[in-house]
Amino acid sequence: MKKIARKFILIFVGILIVLQFVKSERIYQEVNPQTDFLLVLKAPKEVGRIVKANCYDCHSLQVEYPWYASVAPISFMIEHHVEEGIEHLDFSDWTKYAPKKAAHKLEEILEEVEEGKMPLKSYALLHGELSEEDEKIFLNWVQTLR
Ligand code: HEC
Repeated sequence: MKKIARKFILIFVGILIVLQFVKSERIYQEVNPQTDFLLVLKAPKEVGRIVKANCYDCHSLQVEYPWYASVAPISFMIEHHVEEGIEHLDFSDWTKYAPKKAAHKLEEILEEVEEGKMPLKSYALLHGELSEEDEKIFLNWVQTLR
């Protein structure tokens, strides 16, 4: 039994090491003031801080990668979240949404955050929850845009 367990651990560690050589695609781009959600909508500083800290790592091209984002297979999971996050909601390119679509996105933001679905649980676990106070400041501001 012990021998099998040892073999298993060796194989597992081997796979982990090999995975480190698989490079994942990283997304990073400078802020474009012409299209950035916070700048286009002239968000107050406080709101900017909250949205950048809680949403921009998945919903913008300004992703701040933590050190463990370089470790496979965590890196694969993070890349997947960023890709999917941007696909659903892109704060870096807010002006690509026509007025009706943008209004709908704002509704979705209110809904997702109120229901506690965003930021994603795995993210909040590592980065800290969105505090009740910050949630209020952010959602109150979103309400004023409607
Ligand atoms: C860890 C990555 C991550 C973070 C952080 C995150 N999101 Fe998301 N978000 C996603 C992913 C992935 C999806 C698409 C799949 C889903 O809905 O679960 C999504 C979907 C959404 C949607 C649905 C958009 C649509 O029209 O389909 C909204 C709205 C949203 N997020 C808002 C936010 C807001 C606001 C924040 C910050 C308070 C935030 N998210 C933080 C990953 C993230």
